[in-house]
Amino acid sequence: MPVRVAVIGGGVVGLMALKNFREDGFDATLYEGRAWVGGLWKYSDDEWLSTAENTKFNSSKFRTAIPDFPFSKHVDDFPTASQLYEYLNAYCQHFDLWPHVKLSSRVTSVKRSGERWALEVTPNDAPSYTAHYDKVAFACGSFTSPRQPTLDGIDQFKGRALHAVNFHNPSQFEGQNVLVVGAHASAQDVVAQLSEHASHVYLSHRSGVLLLSRYSSDGSVYDRMPPLNFTIFTLYLQTWFPNLFTWMMDSLIGMMAKKSFPTQPASLGSLLTTKAPSIAVAAPLIASELYPHFESGFCEGVPGIRKISGPRSIELTSDRTLDNVDAIVYCTGYHMTIPVEMESSLNPYAYPGSSANLYRQIFPLHPDPDIRNSLAFLGQAAVPLPGFAQHEMVSMCISQVWRGKSRLPPLAEMQRWHRNIQAWRADQTKRYQAQSTFYPVFVPMADHLAWMDSCAGLGMRRHFGLLSRWTNWEAWKFWWNDRELYNLCLTGLSSPAIFRLFDEGKRKAWAGARKQILLDNESVKLQQQERQKQLQAKKEI
Ligand SMILES: Cc1cc2nc3c(=O)[nH]c(=O)nc-3n(C[C@H](O)[C@H](O)[C@H](O)COP(=O)(O)OP(=O)(O)OC[C@H]3O[C@@H](n4cnc5c(N)ncnc54)[C@H](O)[C@@H]3O)c2cc1C
Ligand SMILES: *[C@@H]1O[C@H](CO)[C@@H](O)[C@H](O)[C@H]1NC(C)=O
Ligand SMILES: *[C@@H]1O[C@H](CO)[C@@H](O)[C@H](O)[C@H]1NC(C)=O
Ligand SMILES: *[C@@H]1O[C@H](CO)[C@@H](O)[C@H](O)[C@H]1NC(C)=O
Repeated sequence: MPVRVAVIGGGVVGLMALKNFREDGFDATLYEGRAWVGGLWKYSDDEWLSTAENTKFNSSKFRTAIPDFPFSKHVDDFPTASQLYEYLNAYCQHFDLWPHVKLSSRVTSVKRSGERWALEVTPNDAPSYTAHYDKVAFACGSFTSPRQPTLDGIDQFKGRALHAVNFHNPSQFEGQNVLVVGAHASAQDVVAQLSEHASHVYLSHRSGVLLLSRYSSDGSVYDRMPPLNFTIFTLYLQTWFPNLFTWMMDSLIGMMAKKSFPTQPASLGSLLTTKAPSIAVAAPLIASELYPHFESGFCEGVPGIRKISGPRSIELTSDRTLDNVDAIVYCTGYHMTIPVEMESSLNPYAYPGSSANLYRQIFPLHPDPDIRNSLAFLGQAAVPLPGFAQHEMVSMCISQVWRGKSRLPPLAEMQRWHRNIQAWRADQTKRYQAQSTFYPVFVPMADHLAWMDSCAGLGMRRHFGLLSRWTNWEAWKFWWNDRELYNLCLTGLSSPAIFRLFDEGKRKAWAGARKQILLDNESVKLQQQERQKQLQAKKEI
């Protein structure tokens, strides 16, 4: 009898997991609490997180695509939320996932029941029932429990104060002065929506953030670079000279940020001069939707908040007081949680504030080996690689472990990995003075990719060598047999299809990968030419 697998959550991460489990022969079923798949990429005013319809993805469609499911050529260079929603529905259609998706079916608890797992499922309009599975994969999203600071003196504040997760109907803020706290993706989302209604926005941030543009000066999407040969070189640097690597990346991205927006309006305020934290502990912001609001003066960067000093007054750490604030929107992120009831020995975030009690941010560190081999948590690990591919790789790893083609190390080694990651995080936090919001899912990139490469069977290191083909026989063979493709993979656009190119007897390769890599190389060139034409036409008007 095939092994029964439950996937909890039908966002992009859960859908990729469902597809991979089924491809590997598992009898997999997905449970989604909402009435649709695609998760936060469909706007909704329910209590869960969603983006606005016109929110744009922060990496280009060329790098964002699921490796064996490219975007159609009608999709924008940077897909909008509604285009992503359509794309994910098309994904279900193409891979025939619909028969295995249960919508409006929230999983409320997961319990051990003999050798299996008992899931309590609570449909929207029907009584709860129990379903049994051999394995369970959690893909509930990383943004489930809003994080909100308690501002000193908040009781005095007479305006509205709400978290971004509850931000709907921007027309409620007609003519108001709004203080947005935080300077990341959600803040950009909120400011863009406020711009049609509010009178003025103060954007408060404690430590600054690097702002980048979506396009390079030659008209290319910013993530056309770097090619794979450079990425491999940086992985090497990162392994052997981590501080040098961080210094180099900080310099490079700092330079990109300066070039991104050459006019620096005064309304950037403290964002203008603050030294943003190192990219080791804080991601830059692709700010093309936010920046125009600084240029117009609608939005103004201000430093952190000291306290609320009156019904509409807010004192900043710079001693300046804002006296006319009508509303506060907290874009201050989320605590990591798994929104399903389960025993605390199974819940990776049982103790608030501690880092995930997981091996590789995926598998539970449980004394019972059967539990280690039958529960997995997706979307809890991240490295700075654009798009969906890295999250699909995690599901490939889980699938290969569950079908016995790859193995988890003994518990002691899993625990050693966990201790090391905690030490690494503590060191990064101290060295680069990270804020308390230092994203708890970051793992060291070189190590994580190397582990996934062998666990999922991507064949990347075997075919591209560590530094060059000099070190690797398989890389020589690849170069000899298909020089055009070999060179294009290493020096052209890093197409996600490269991750589905080789068959190592673990996850399946995609027969269309070679063609897609060639096509992506052409498409990204056309994109640049098209954009240059547009810019030229604008100049002539
Ligand atoms: C404003 C904003 C902008 C972003 N922009 C980018 C970007 O540009 N680039 C990028 O890489 N990432 C971005 N992200 C990160 C985003 O989280 C990922 O892109 C990705 O969409 C996450 O997918 P997911 O499947 O993990 O989560 P989600 O899309 O949140 O899906 C999780 C799903 O699980 C369901 N669920 C949860 N609990 C249960 C349960 N108990 N039972 C059943 N169903 C359940 C939820 O209903 C939801 O549909 C952004 C996030 C935000 C908030
Ligand atoms: C990558 O390839 C390009 C094109 O051949 C070359 O100019 C560049 O120096 C290479 N970079 C590295 C780090 O090897
Ligand atoms: C894109 O957004 C995700 C999620 O918000 C973030 O983790 C990542 O660092 C962003 N990438 C860039 C290049 O800003
Ligand atoms: C990649 O694209 C460039 C630019 O269009 C083109 O000159 C080159 O021939 C392409 N390479 C391959 C291998 O198709």
